[in-house]
Amino acid sequence: MEHISNLACEQVIQTDQLRKVFKVGFWGRRVTAVDGVSLEVQRGEVFGFLGPNGAGKTTTIKMLMGLIYPSGGTATLFGHPVGDPSAKAKVGFLPESPYFYDYLTGREFLRFYGHLFGLLGTALDKRIDELLELVGITHARDLQLRKFSKGMLQRVGIAQALINDPELVILDEPMSGLDPIGRKEVRDLILRLKESGKTVMFSSHILHDAELLCDRVAMIMKGKLVACGPVSELIAGDTTHEVEMVIDRLLPEALERIRPLASKVVLQGERVMVVLSSQQAVDLALDVIRSAKAKLVALTPHKASLEDLFIRKATGVHQPVEARV
Ligand SMILES: Nc1ncnc2c1ncn2[C@@H]1O[C@H](COP(=O)(O)OP(=O)(O)OP(=O)(O)O)[C@@H](O)[C@H]1O
Ligand SMILES: [Mg+2]
Repeated sequence: MEHISNLACEQVIQTDQLRKVFKVGFWGRRVTAVDGVSLEVQRGEVFGFLGPNGAGKTTTIKMLMGLIYPSGGTATLFGHPVGDPSAKAKVGFLPESPYFYDYLTGREFLRFYGHLFGLLGTALDKRIDELLELVGITHARDLQLRKFSKGMLQRVGIAQALINDPELVILDEPMSGLDPIGRKEVRDLILRLKESGKTVMFSSHILHDAELLCDRVAMIMKGKLVACGPVSELIAGDTTHEVEMVIDRLLPEALERIRPLASKVVLQGERVMVVLSSQQAVDLALDVIRSAKAKLVALTPHKASLEDLFIRKATGVHQPVEARV
């Protein structure tokens, strides 16, 4: 029966108008950390939960984990209300700042969490060895956590999140504090989890990682979702199809004719880089370049990225920028 309902329910996480208001300070000032967030995470996908500092990512995740109660709205895991033990047993969680008992060794730390899930004996030892291998810290299994580097702590934290072989893994900032190699390794690990059929939701403000990894992302700012969908669709929907031109020998008078057409002008020594946002602007700029006998050095369609979308959402509109480098 359980099996049938699992198959029927493709929505692993579902929130509807989820809200959290904190009261802070002596006067109980209200801070709305999460403001009506509705999202769905499907079985088997890698879902990125993106937003700047203080956007409400951790608060949302804590509500999903049943660690704090929503002020409004609903959230379900595997179709059960959050906090339901049958759902909790299928979830692994890496908190944002995991409190590590730093006198324990890697192996002891994982044993501790294994016991919390009722795992014992040789089955647990085997599981721990597998996980240490999976996250690449077998060599540190007998080292105390206080001697671990930040990257090693992040890995043992991820191993901890996997101890109960969960169907859903929720990771709050799994790449934080890692160098580019460490980040790549965590990305690879997340992809391996996906390959093994798990659903992964992770929060991050490192947009590049999300772009490389995620089937879909949601962007949260000031507690509200500002975008949600597959990365390619979000970028396609948002892009203004910008073209970047690098021009040599452009006299000041010609530059002044191009400037009103451009969304960005950067003076680079003798060269000028301009960004144009429409085909018409490109055609007009090319006319100016030809008539002024300037030299077009490069013409590059600007690939939109999640970062562009993120900044655009954060700042409202795309501002023309001028800079001298
Ligand atoms: N326990 C709390 N009491 C009062 N305010 C809180 C509490 N927890 C979070 N907040 C506030 O809620 C807002 C959202 O915080 P949250 O930690 O969810 O952001 P975040 O997106 O995870 O940020 P970061 O990227 O910095 O981790 C912030 O304004 C924060 O100050
Ligand atoms: Mg956070």
